[in-house]
Amino acid sequence: MSDDLFAAARAAMAFAHVPYSKFPVGAAIRAEDGRIYAGANIENLSFPQGWCAEPTAIGQMIMGGARKIVEIAVIAEKLPLCPPCGGCRQKIAEFATPQTRIYLCDDTGVKKTMTMPELLPFAFETEILG
Ligand code: THU
Repeated sequence: MSDDLFAAARAAMAFAHVPYSKFPVGAAIRAEDGRIYAGANIENLSFPQGWCAEPTAIGQMIMGGARKIVEIAVIAEKLPLCPPCGGCRQKIAEFATPQTRIYLCDDTGVKKTMTMPELLPFAFETEILG
């Protein structure tokens, strides 16, 4: 993984709005357009209304006009390695390809590199819905 993707994920983490969990997470995507899209988790007083860092980054990517995740880095200040939650795995899968790489990072760099099938085995797939 490139230094700039890691730096973007770490920098994004500083924007986390986490007054309830105090658990900042940052995510950064390199999309097929070569650009980096980053995001942090944004919590809400009505707890279920908050959301994770990954969908913030995905939203940035979509609104930037890109549609494919080439690579994504995830970092959480308080964990040596932050496995994306189940919902985030499905959200990443929506824009992933067989080549997509998921980097789970700590403050020093990549701790684990994964493919989408490793992160989300036996994923929901059907041709009925296109
Ligand atoms: N969180 C993420 O941002 N991404 C994940 O994949 C795991 C969990 C956030 C959600 C919440 O703001 C905090 O971490 C504690 O669960």
